[in-house]
Amino acid sequence: MRVTRQSQTHYEKTMNDRVYIFDTTLRDGEQVPGCQLNTEEKVQIAKAQEALGVDVIEAGFPISSPGDFKSVVAISKAVSEPVICGLTRAVEKDIDVAAEALRHARRKRIHTGIGASDCHIRYKFNSTREEVLERGVAAVKYAKKYAEDVEFYAEDAGRADLEYLAKMVEAVIRAGATVINIPDTTGYNLPWVFGQKIKYLMDNVPNIHKAIVSVHCHNDLGLATANAVEGLRNGARQAEVTINGIGERAGNTSLEEVVMILESHAGLNLKTGVDPARLAPTSKLVERLMRMPVQPNKAIVGANAFSHSSGIHQDGFLKHKDNYEIISPETVGVATSKIVLTARSGRHALKHRLENLGYIYSKEELNTLYAKFLDMADRLKQVEDEHLKELTHAFQSA
Ligand code: KIV
Ligand code: ZN
Repeated sequence: MRVTRQSQTHYEKTMNDRVYIFDTTLRDGEQVPGCQLNTEEKVQIAKAQEALGVDVIEAGFPISSPGDFKSVVAISKAVSEPVICGLTRAVEKDIDVAAEALRHARRKRIHTGIGASDCHIRYKFNSTREEVLERGVAAVKYAKKYAEDVEFYAEDAGRADLEYLAKMVEAVIRAGATVINIPDTTGYNLPWVFGQKIKYLMDNVPNIHKAIVSVHCHNDLGLATANAVEGLRNGARQAEVTINGIGERAGNTSLEEVVMILESHAGLNLKTGVDPARLAPTSKLVERLMRMPVQPNKAIVGANAFSHSSGIHQDGFLKHKDNYEIISPETVGVATSKIVLTARSGRHALKHRLENLGYIYSKEELNTLYAKFLDMADRLKQVEDEHLKELTHAFQSA
């Protein structure tokens, strides 16, 4: 049974090992140029997110366009288990429109917020710390008219003054925020620094126990996942992630990476409600609908994530999978590991692939075939089953 935030006591919140997965593929992910989806496609992804077991679906930014508004309405109707969330700025009109878009959601959340760093305060809002804090508080109070569940984001928290951030967090919780999002909007933080920020907030904001702390990290330095995990290790209990790590610029924390890090390291004592076996199929759906190819070496869901290509690795893997795999492919919904044949492959891999095709050779025969195989691999770069069949036919008729 899924744990619901509303049912938790203070003790459970602070000691709980449950990490909520807030999936923003359809909002931060969908902002990527070329990834835009129509309503039907968004509903298809939202249903896949529900089946995957995410806790919150950020369905869009309703005021941004009529299409996004329509999609948030459609997702609110189509999906019932996860909380459906709509993004707003700290602007009343945004909040009115988000509340309207979310009116059919069985469980809804309004996600409002404002910049917290001096850079944003000065250059985005041409304002002061005090004024921005007041605007944040007012936005939370306004959103509470529509929803019990209000998440507040302190944009660019990663570069914000920590004492000011703590003051802002305390004030918005007092105003009724139930979730506090600490985004590293520019992906600037180092993991231990980000972890320390979360710890500072946990230790220094007197009413922090009244909210769930959330981490929202961007990947500009390739640290989004590491930063999110450090945030969780230091007390955050919600991770804002996207499938395949898509998102603004270099992307967001990848859902599949966080889930599998927590699955693989039992010592962290942190659990999500995500079904790992649905990770690869969901990744493929997002890749196809968003027309955003997943890089082959992407952790967990890349085409090469369970492929072994060098002779040393192939030999070790064929002797015992654990030698070179920390996750079995079936766990994440991938049918099988692959032994890829290239000019770097060894005899063991060649023998294995030939046997899979039904060809059994003696050691001497295999040695002869291996020399021919290397010539072929140098020429073709990658040797597929049909090439192996040609090789064996030529060998047998010689
Ligand atoms: O990166 C960010 O700060 C955001 C906020 C709008 C939550 O996406
Ligand atoms: Zn973001």
